[in-house]
Amino acid sequence: MVPIPGMNILLGVSGGIAAYKAADLVRRLRERGCAVRVVMTAAATAFVSPLTFQALSGHPVRTGLLDPAAEAGMDHIELARWADRVLLAPATADLIARLAAGLADDLLTTLVLATAAPLYLAPAMNQQMWRHPATQENLERLRRRGVQVLGPGVGSQACGEQGPGRMLEPAELVTTLLAADRSATKAAAGPLAGVRAMVTAGPTREPLDPVRYLGNRSSGRMGYAVAEALAGLGAAVTLISGPTALPTPTGVLRVDVETAREMHSAVLERIAGVSLFVAAAAVADYRPADPVPQKIKKVEAELVVRLVRNPDILAEVAAQPSPPFTVGFAAETDQVEDHALTKLRTKRLHMIAANRVGGAVGGFERNDNALTVLWPDGRRELPMMPKTQLARELALLIAERYVASS
Ligand code: PMT
Repeated sequence: MVPIPGMNILLGVSGGIAAYKAADLVRRLRERGCAVRVVMTAAATAFVSPLTFQALSGHPVRTGLLDPAAEAGMDHIELARWADRVLLAPATADLIARLAAGLADDLLTTLVLATAAPLYLAPAMNQQMWRHPATQENLERLRRRGVQVLGPGVGSQACGEQGPGRMLEPAELVTTLLAADRSATKAAAGPLAGVRAMVTAGPTREPLDPVRYLGNRSSGRMGYAVAEALAGLGAAVTLISGPTALPTPTGVLRVDVETAREMHSAVLERIAGVSLFVAAAAVADYRPADPVPQKIKKVEAELVVRLVRNPDILAEVAAQPSPPFTVGFAAETDQVEDHALTKLRTKRLHMIAANRVGGAVGGFERNDNALTVLWPDGRRELPMMPKTQLARELALLIAERYVASS
């Protein structure tokens, strides 16, 4: 990642357990050549000492608004002007709510109102707080004002629960911040400049017990290539990804999930404001009805597992009152075009990309693939080629149809 020497980052730290990670964040941003000044909320000082951030950033740490000594130095308006970017990490549910309401009841919220710099926030909270409608409404209000939300990650939390809400790791935050920033500047060009896109990619894992799951052969390569190709055309891309071993594509914001239901939640929590949706993920249609909390012991000669349907994410997005331009994929082993056309029509999609899977070439896991792309009044065959090149051709075709439909 090319450092951006001389970029001034104002780092806002609010009062969550993830505040300890912000120290590593300061170090990594300075390694990239950025200058960092830290502002903490009062609650944050209960988690990490301001002295820690002062030592790491090389600048006095600000907490209070009415701090005469600090105001004698760089006062809060100068600080707001100094910042090229503002990053709030961790951003607690309380801070997000105060920002959404436009409050200026402490130094950090005052600076956010006083600065013209692009604002990025990295949420960090309990998974139930993350899912709460109030939090999601606050985030949506901030996204509509152009605030970039980085993450959160999905996984085990300090409170012992599992799910979305943990702050992205410092290394990923720095990469995502600098990449998101690069895509924001690069988005000036390209047929999809200013378009918010969302791509699902990878497999899902449906738990049987704490050790075992039902999965599929998707590696995520196709979806990741599509996400990168759309970003290359200027779109602001959010990638909702099942478990893969792939690096996050440049300029793409990634949200990790495991199960189909987590992917369903992650998509619907973020779909507002998205103009282009591409579903490349291999989402499990079914999940075990009764996953058990303990590892299943091999006692019986036969084990029967009852499966129940998962939500159809693509169909739900396409059925929204004012749906985005929606592109599905069809993974078929036979009658590829007929099955794809059926999905195009029954799910009322704008386009569908059909690929033959299970054969000797193309499909799951492989580097190459071929697509038959269909839309209500047309079609295009994209022959066998590397998925990166195929994704670029598909993205151009999608952009062409999207612009024509707008
Ligand atoms: O990841 P790779 O290893 O590169 O492999 C690429 C791929 C073969 C996975 C990819 O090209 C592909 O075909 N993805 C779609 C796989 C799939 O689930 O196809 P489907 O025909 O079962 O589903 C139809 C569409 O509905 C897909 O867009 C799928 O994302 C979506 N879907 C399906 C089920 C569900 N519960 N929710 C969904 O959104």
